[in-house]
Amino acid sequence: MKKILNVGIVGLGYWGPNLVRNLRALPDCRVKTVCDVSEDRLRHICSLYPGVEGETDYQRMVADPEIHAVLIATAVRFHFPMAKASLLAGKHTFIEKPMAASVAECEELIALAKQKGVTLMVGHTFLYSAPVRRIKQIVDNHDIGELRYISARRLNLGLFQKDINVTWDLAPHDISIILYIMNERPLSVNCRGGAHVTRGIEDVTSLSLTFAKERTAIIHSSWHDPRKVREMTIVGSKRMIVYDDIAPQEKIKVFDVRVERPPHYDTFAEFQYAYHYGDIYSPYIKQDEPLRTECAHFLECIQQNRVPVTSGEAGLEVVRILEASSRSLKLNGAPVELTPAATA
Ligand SMILES: NC(=O)c1ccc[n+]([C@@H]2O[C@H](COP(=O)([O-])OP(=O)(O)OC[C@H]3O[C@@H](n4cnc5c(N)ncnc54)[C@H](O)[C@@H]3O)[C@@H](O)[C@H]2O)c1
Repeated sequence: MKKILNVGIVGLGYWGPNLVRNLRALPDCRVKTVCDVSEDRLRHICSLYPGVEGETDYQRMVADPEIHAVLIATAVRFHFPMAKASLLAGKHTFIEKPMAASVAECEELIALAKQKGVTLMVGHTFLYSAPVRRIKQIVDNHDIGELRYISARRLNLGLFQKDINVTWDLAPHDISIILYIMNERPLSVNCRGGAHVTRGIEDVTSLSLTFAKERTAIIHSSWHDPRKVREMTIVGSKRMIVYDDIAPQEKIKVFDVRVERPPHYDTFAEFQYAYHYGDIYSPYIKQDEPLRTECAHFLECIQQNRVPVTSGEAGLEVVRILEASSRSLKLNGAPVELTPAATA
């Protein structure tokens, strides 16, 4: 029989309550404590979920011997100290994206989780979404031919953050999806951007990732755009996929289109690109809440001692790219090389 896991959740601002709602609905789990420094947020969440204890002191929650796992949904600067305290107390630990503020912090947390023998997972929610899983399947089956490039746009007006730029805020989603699909670490990273509203905090950035075999990815992130856009295009040598996460239905469309160079030609007059235009189809996708799947995966990994899909190592790879993007921004977009390695 499975053991009931008691969890504590810290950070009840915009995102944390979604973790509370989803974990409350899962079997084999009891949301024992919720924690926030804001008494108002605590009162509000505790009134929605009678029986859940409210706590303003994080250290006290972490010290509770009845709590098996801690989920952290606070601002990025708190991720490392809070996760470290949770791991040191021997708790399974879930950290919202991005995992921490630097590669060094991520590495320390991974080592600590190993030493304590507990599960460490990062909230890269999109890897638990049905459309992203379907895209991965289509790409891995070579239905689009050789993968050539991916472009992503994640734009809207706000929410402006005060301590991290838009790449650190929005691009972790796209980076995690791109690494999942590409299944390798990029060779280099370029990033340019503009800080139009808050000095020193870019609200619009363009991030390029260069992979082996001339494969590339481009990520446009913005808090400074009139429309909400969450779009990704995956271009293969035979077909292309467009993923629109805002679309209520038909989030993925596969376009049977391609362009080919003629195999050989003698004169420039003979040279013609061959364009192919075929059908467009939209695979059926059963809609589930990705966060529910993600929370269930965290509990399963704890129960079965399995490594999460979005492990600490996967979180580290995303932060490695974010850190390189910040260096490139300071160098006005110059490439920052990464050491080649297979991603988790
Ligand atoms: N996975 C996703 O799709 C997704 C979506 C949105 C946000 N997020 C992530 O969730 C995290 C939180 O983002 P948010 O927008 O909810 O932030 P937020 O600022 O709205 O909420 C953070 C909460 O943490 C509380 N807090 C701060 N310091 C604390 C402390 N020492 N002890 C207890 N509580 C403390 C604050 O009072 C606040 O209520 C971020 O890492 C963000 O990137 C993930």
